[in-house]
Amino acid sequence: MPTLAVYPGSFDPLTNGHVDIILRGARLFDRIIVSILVNAEKSPLFTMDERVEITRAVFKDQPKVEVDTFDGLLVDYVERRKAQVIVRGLRAVSDFEFEFQLALMNQRLNAQIQTVFIMPAKQYTYISSRLIKEVVSLGGRVHGLVPEIVEARLRDKILARQA
Ligand SMILES: Nc1ncnc2c1ncn2[C@@H]1O[C@H](COP(=O)(O)OP(=O)(O)OP(=O)(O)O)[C@@H](O)[C@H]1O
Ligand SMILES: [Mg+2]
Repeated sequence: MPTLAVYPGSFDPLTNGHVDIILRGARLFDRIIVSILVNAEKSPLFTMDERVEITRAVFKDQPKVEVDTFDGLLVDYVERRKAQVIVRGLRAVSDFEFEFQLALMNQRLNAQIQTVFIMPAKQYTYISSRLIKEVVSLGGRVHGLVPEIVEARLRDKILARQA
C-alpha cells in the first residue's frame, strides 16, 4: 500500500524551512499533502487562496507534492484523506515541547496515525513565518530564506500597505 503523508501548517508564508521539510518528506513517502490550515490566525498576511497558489507554484514540478486546505480536527482530516502519517518539522528545543504534546494527543485520538518528525538542513533551523514577516515589515531582506515567489509577494504586500 502506498504511504501517504500530511504536512499541516499555516504556511503564512511558505519559507525555505517548510520547502526543505516537504522535499525530504517527498523522498520518504509516496505522496505528501501540504495541508494549509484554514483560520489558524485571525488576520493572516496571505489569504488562503494566495497561500495555496504560492505553494502550488513552488512545487509545480514535484508530482509527489499535493496542496490542500483543511479545517477542524487534524486526525479526522488525515483519516478522510486516507493518509497514514503526519509530518512535522523540528527546528530546536523550542519546538519540542509543543510538538511532543500534539503528537501524543493525536496518537490518543487516532492510534492508526503516526507522527514523523523531520529536521531541516541547519541553515533553515532558525526560520519561522512569524520572523520572516517581522523582518520584511521592518525593511529587512529575506533573500534565500523564502522561495523567490514569496519574496516578490511579500514586497507587493508591503508596498500595498504603504500606498
Ligand atoms: N524552518 C523550519 N524548519 C523545520 N521545521 C519548520 C520550520 N518552520 C516551520 N517548521 C515546522 O513546520 C510545521 C508548520 O509550521 P507553521 O506553519 O506553524 O510554520 P512556522 O514557521 O512555525 O509559522 P509561525 O511562525 O506562524 O508559527 C511545524 O511542524 C513547524 O515546526
Ligand atoms: Mg509555528
